[in-house]
Order: sequence, then structure tokens, then C-alpha cells
Amino acid sequence: MDRVLSGIQPSGPLHLGNLIGALSNWIRLQDKYECYFFVADLHALTTGYGNPYQIKEYTVDLLMNFIAAGLNPEKSTIFIQSQIPEHSELHVFLSMITPLGWLERVPTYKEKKEQIKDKDLDTYGFLGYPVLQTADIIIYRAKYVPVGVDQIPHLELSREIARRFNYLYENEFFPEPEALLTDFPKVPGTDGRKMSKSYGNAIYLSDNQTIVTEKISTMVTDPARKRRTDKGDPAKCPVFDLHKIFSTEDEKKEITIGCTTASIGCIDCKKILIKHVIETLRPIWEKRQELINNPSLLIDIAHEGSKKAKKVAGETLKEMKEVIGWIF
Ligand code: TRP
Ligand code: SF4
Repeated sequence: MDRVLSGIQPSGPLHLGNLIGALSNWIRLQDKYECYFFVADLHALTTGYGNPYQIKEYTVDLLMNFIAAGLNPEKSTIFIQSQIPEHSELHVFLSMITPLGWLERVPTYKEKKEQIKDKDLDTYGFLGYPVLQTADIIIYRAKYVPVGVDQIPHLELSREIARRFNYLYENEFFPEPEALLTDFPKVPGTDGRKMSKSYGNAIYLSDNQTIVTEKISTMVTDPARKRRTDKGDPAKCPVFDLHKIFSTEDEKKEITIGCTTASIGCIDCKKILIKHVIETLRPIWEKRQELINNPSLLIDIAHEGSKKAKKVAGETLKEMKEVIGWIF
């Protein structure tokens, strides 16, 4: 089986967009590949170093969501990045051979530095973000990395760093990882923009039934439908984008007809969506509660995952040191 690896930064609570975009895809991959999934807590530190305690809380919450959403520790290796210090050690070695210019050219580097103004990102660690990410991937010699399109430049850089190592020390030592792109539907937030924690428009996996109902009930709709008697266009309505993800074909047809003829109101249309979103989240909520009630379950899962990951990572690191003659 080919090896797949991916991680998510614990930089905030997980929302519906992350679930549809990343996690559901990972869950499907579990049966086809040998999977490694982890919480990238060190990566969250590159921007969140001012509040490490918060990152720790998000880390536990993210791990809980991994399991609650359906990642299966019997199938996949699930762990917390910083529990495997081998990532950090490989990162040091890779940082020696990575030209500064490659890092400065990464588009997300400049973009994020411009976007995030409340933190000083003129740091060594933030520039080195993709080097650490490369270490994460190649320490397991992962073949595929399921990521969103925004991560393509990072992955391209990982390939270049792997290639450079191979060129300098040993041919084909590190395989060049490939992105595993999956088309996923766009997930709008309650204000119609892309769902994101920084926009304050997200529905979180940790929200309860009342909050979910409230958030969807007040969600923006087609602006042309101000009154119940106004006709609408689902193509212009973010609520309908969510129906595309959660509702049945029949419901979507019914809503399209109802909306364009004003025979269904937005409140009833949203009720159908609320029902589906809650149906999707309910098993996750139940599993979360189970994990909260039994903290040792999560500890055991993290412990087992670390053990499995550490074995593979340790072997690669040892071989890498042999290759560069770094044995004392
Ligand atoms: N950069 C990824 C993100 O922002 C997180 C990440 C860290 C990652 N290391 C990785 C993803 C290795 C894939 C592979 O979500
Ligand atoms: Fe949107 Fe539904 Fe209202 Fe049409 S009826 S505008 S699809 S919320």
C-alpha cells in the first residue's frame, strides 16, 4: 500500500469547512492507503508562539475531532507532531541545505506576513515553515499528501528539498512527495464568504444543536429575496451551496423550484439544511462526549500513534545519518 500523510495546524477549533474539505477525504483514504495523520502543533507555533497554552488546548481538541469524525486508529497512524522529536531533528538537517531564496519565494510566506498584522512574523521559524513541513512528509517517505490547492507551493518546495538532498548525498534516498488533490465543494460560512475562523462565519464541530440552528437561521441568503413573496435564485444563495453538500437530490430539486417561484420561504428552506447538518454532526458530538468522559481513551490513542510513528521516523533519521556519515 502506498503511504499517505497529512496534517492540520491546531490554530483554532475545527469547523464544517475543515470537515468537508480535509477530514472527510482523509477518512475515505484510510481504506486505500497506509495513512499517517497528525496535529501539526509545531506549525501552529510559527504564528501562535505568543500563546502556546492556547495551541495546546486546540491540539487536544483537534485530536478529539480527528477521532470523533471517523479517523480510525486501527487503520491509520494518528499522532501529535511534537511528540515525535525526529521531525524537528530532520528539520535542522534540511534547513542546512535549503537556500533562503527558495523560502522567500513561497507565495504564502509573503501573503500571510501581509495579512497577519497583529503578530511579528519576521522570524526564523515562520520562514522555515515549509522546511518543517518537508521533514514531516519525507521522514515517513510518504508518496501522497492530500492537501488543498493553497498548499501546492509548499509541496513543490518539499519536492525540491528532497531532490537537493538526493543530489548532495544519495540518489533516491527521499522519494519526492506528490500532492493528492481532491475536488471538494466550496463551503461558505454564514456570511457567504469562504468559511474561515478568521472571518467569524464558521460553524464549529464543537457547536451544539442550538448554536448550529441559530447560525444557519441567521445565515445570509439570495439578497434579492427580501420578502417571503420575492422570488430567489439558489445559484446566488450560500445556503443552497450547503444544500448541495448535505441535502438529497429530491430536496435540492424541490428547493430550486420553491425558491424560484417563491413557494417556499427561506425559513423552511433553512430548516431542511439544519436537519441535515445536525444529522451529520450528531454522531461527532456523541463521540466527542464519549472522549471527554473518558480522557484515557484519547491518551491511549495518542500514545499508540506516537509509538508507531516514532518507529518509522526513527529508522529514516538513522538511515539519513548513515548516508551523510553522521554516526558517532
Ligand atoms: N501546512 C498545513 C496546513 O496549513 C499543515 C501541515 C503541516 C501539513 N505539516 C504538513 C500538511 C505535512 C501536509 C503535510 O494545514
Ligand atoms: Fe436561499 Fe433557500 Fe432562501 Fe432560496 S429559499 S434564497 S435557496 S435560503
